[in-house]
Amino acid sequence: MDAIELLLTRQSSPRLVAPAPNAEQLNTILSAAIRVPDHAGLNPWEFIVASGDGLAKLGQLFVNASAAEGSDESTQAKMANMPQRAPMVITVVAKVVEHAKVPALEQHLAVGCACMAMQQAAFALGLGGIWRTGGLAFNRVLHQDLGLRDNDQIIGFLYLGTPAVTAPIKPTKLATDVVRYL
Ligand SMILES: Cc1cc2nc3c(=O)[nH]c(=O)nc-3n(C[C@H](O)[C@H](O)[C@H](O)COP(=O)(O)O)c2cc1C
Repeated sequence: MDAIELLLTRQSSPRLVAPAPNAEQLNTILSAAIRVPDHAGLNPWEFIVASGDGLAKLGQLFVNASAAEGSDESTQAKMANMPQRAPMVITVVAKVVEHAKVPALEQHLAVGCACMAMQQAAFALGLGGIWRTGGLAFNRVLHQDLGLRDNDQIIGFLYLGTPAVTAPIKPTKLATDVVRYL
């Protein structure tokens, strides 16, 4: 796919089915992630990949995290099934380090770019994805269960797979509404 066509037509796929990205595709997707702008080359990221049995493990971590907030059984059942909405879920983590010139915000932005690059790579490979967050991204129990440190932040859960439906490409947005010139 032409790069400009990718940038102008990329869209999310909320409904994803198997197959998940294969090993070669996943390698391409992760390689795109770590190619993004990274001030001072801090590599401030970690990608926790769940597929197969890993999806149930991630679901159990979601349940534990939600139970710690006092959720009821029906919410916990929903949490258990959340990762099953795609054949692969990558938890995208900002591993923030102290740096004199690179504040945490810039490190978060770099990891956001990585998340976006992965979705774009998946799209270019004919796969689909959607970037989700929700309260779980900020849940301290989930952070602890995933082995994250105090300053780490989940930037997103990138759901990846094959689009269940071929959605029509959304109409082009007009940049003129959001730009001004000096
Ligand atoms: C940081 C971030 C968090 C998001 N969290 C969610 C989410 O939890 N659930 C959701 O349905 N969409 C979420 N979205 C929006 C989707 O990823 C997607 O962009 C949106 O559905 C619009 O679709 P499009 O990408 O095709 O324009 C989030 C987007 C960003 C950038």
